Amino acid sequence: MEIKELKEAFAQAYGHEADRIYFSPGRVNLIGEHTDYNGGYVFPCALSFGTYLLLGRNGGKTMRFKSLNMPEIVEVGLDDLTTPLPGKSWVNYPMGCMAWYVRHGHQFDQGLDILIWGNVPAGAGLSSSAALEVVAAFAANDYLGLNYNHTDFAKIGQLAEHEFAGVNCGIMDQFASSWGKKDHAIHLNCDTLEFEHVPVKLDGIKVVIANTHSPHHLDSGAYNDRVAQCQTALEQLRTVRPALKNLAELTEAEFEQIEGAITDPTAHKRARHVVGEVQRTADAVRALKAGDIETFGKLMNASHVSLRDDYEVTGLHLDTLAEEAWKIEGVLGSRMTGGGFGGCTVSLVREEAIPAFIEQVGKAYKEKTGIEADFYIAEIGDGARRIE
Ligand code: GLA
Repeated sequence: MEIKELKEAFAQAYGHEADRIYFSPGRVNLIGEHTDYNGGYVFPCALSFGTYLLLGRNGGKTMRFKSLNMPEIVEVGLDDLTTPLPGKSWVNYPMGCMAWYVRHGHQFDQGLDILIWGNVPAGAGLSSSAALEVVAAFAANDYLGLNYNHTDFAKIGQLAEHEFAGVNCGIMDQFASSWGKKDHAIHLNCDTLEFEHVPVKLDGIKVVIANTHSPHHLDSGAYNDRVAQCQTALEQLRTVRPALKNLAELTEAEFEQIEGAITDPTAHKRARHVVGEVQRTADAVRALKAGDIETFGKLMNASHVSLRDDYEVTGLHLDTLAEEAWKIEGVLGSRMTGGGFGGCTVSLVREEAIPAFIEQVGKAYKEKTGIEADFYIAEIGDGARRIE
């Protein structure tokens, strides 16, 4: 949808013009999966598609929320913003971010009308919810004339996800949406939040996203279970290493020395993934900086295997897409991206191999699952911003 059409949709829904327009993108993670809530490194990039938020003052005492994908307008009193709506209302994501400002003493002087439209495929593991949170956190800061920064918007979004959506996620998605930079990935230390933008200019190679169309159920509890299993592993490791702050602090050699302290076999596998993934992420970023894309690709494949066997977050759909991709000449690497349990894979593919990749992977996937996969060539875009 064009901005002009969005403005018309706003005027039609609310009977007056929008005052401001904001945008925040979805993300794809290249490597470093399920490391963020373990204090490890991640390496995501923001996409060129994301979520738009149009906002206009309504002179009243309520916030009104409308998404162009939903029929209804949801109205919430200014005094009720800090109470999550019952059920799984999408409004909780933007409202949870606005609530943060209210809780921190920043009152809205009057009601606002808000229109949302996004072009991140929902349930695809490309962070449509983080895009919605971050755009709301950014918009509220701008509207209220405050000086919070892009790291704050990421933290506000993450907190809304915890408190208003019940998912104990790490900070990767919101951080990538907030701090994205065109043609760069973000090498983020999720413990300290120090980060570096690393150029992803790949000569003759594209980042291709493949959508399983098998929705990932991030709120289904399987994600929160992984977070809890890592916590169990950490606590058991602390019996022999009391000062250990995060799983991600351990090198693989250090882990091997003390892994026997983890008595729960599931927690042990989860921890082994995290420690290995942190090492792979460091190696991958080093390889990319040195122009060694082959090594980067191999590390992506190894990441998928670990997420399949030790972290157990892949399943038939993601495994089929990745494993079929590995067979194709010109595919440097392919792995699941995001939380898992459905969603998307990310692959590095030589340009001349893209048609064969799409055809052969698509065909094999259809045969195994009965589902048509979708393929997008990713454009790496900028982070949260005001458009008008
Ligand atoms: C989801 C979460 C992130 C991160 C990834 C896995 O996208 O929102 O915080 O944990 O899964 O890397």
